[in-house]
Amino acid sequence: MKIVNSIKELKSYLAEEKRNNKQIGFVPTMGALHNGHLSLVERCVKENDVCVVSVFVNPTQFNDKHDLETYPRTLDQDCALLEPAGCDYVFAPSAEEMYPEPDTRTFDFGTVSAVMEGARRPGHFNGVAQIVSKLFYVVEPDNAYFGEKDFQQIAVIRAMVKQLDIPVKINACPILREADGLALSSRNVRLTPEQRQKAPLIARTLKESTNFAPEKSVQEVIDYVIDTINADPVMRVEYYEIVDGYTMESIRNWSDTTYPVGCITVYCGEVRLIDNIKY
Ligand code: PAJ
Repeated sequence: MKIVNSIKELKSYLAEEKRNNKQIGFVPTMGALHNGHLSLVERCVKENDVCVVSVFVNPTQFNDKHDLETYPRTLDQDCALLEPAGCDYVFAPSAEEMYPEPDTRTFDFGTVSAVMEGARRPGHFNGVAQIVSKLFYVVEPDNAYFGEKDFQQIAVIRAMVKQLDIPVKINACPILREADGLALSSRNVRLTPEQRQKAPLIARTLKESTNFAPEKSVQEVIDYVIDTINADPVMRVEYYEIVDGYTMESIRNWSDTTYPVGCITVYCGEVRLIDNIKY
């Protein structure tokens, strides 16, 4: 496994791989890797000749400076996990390497980037589109892998590659969960033991709520999820929306879409957790 910091060097390695007709798979990450990330890497290794993983804490997608500064950076540990997983190249550039000058591009993907996370984290998806487009230009992968944990992010990436005509196949991978249901996240380590014990309430409530559809209305299911989670004093639901899984538009009736997905963000103490469920 090669660890590469420079765009030029990575491009030259990958040019050689492409000359040999190797299919390139790519997993973009911000590091602090856990088994959720590794499930993407595993699939990437299985489906491609060459697996590239980027580890880069992208400053332009953080709207909260404190969150950026405190984001865990564990490159050595990350590499120790990536090597046995079968990764061929770790791309770990500096901020100066990725942004030699400020990226002034602003994207407009319409609803998919405007609602839910887009509304609560201004600029977040613009920053995601900036970095992922740059990484796609550098790696030129045949396949790229994203987790459904960040469900809306996948819709944004799909809209971006369409708008920019980037020839890559976007592959969505299922959410990896702890045994008690909590979706794996780099932020889970910030939970206190008490919060960690309570956090599975989110996944449990979402799962329970699928038993009520379509007998109960969309609004009744939304109210059930919000009220059940908010009943715990440690939890505060920021939003729960049931959307069309392609367009991210809120639905009113189950018949509005063939692909209803509930997307939630909850503050567990100070820690912002996201999750989602298919109905
Ligand atoms: P990061 O939060 O590091 O996540 C990298 C990838 O791992 C994302 O596609 C995310 O959805 C996936 N992932 C995280 N937790 C997961 C879980 N429990 N199960 C399955 N997949 C999971 O998402 C980002 O980084 C950044 O926005 C990035 C795309 C790298 C751009 O900077």
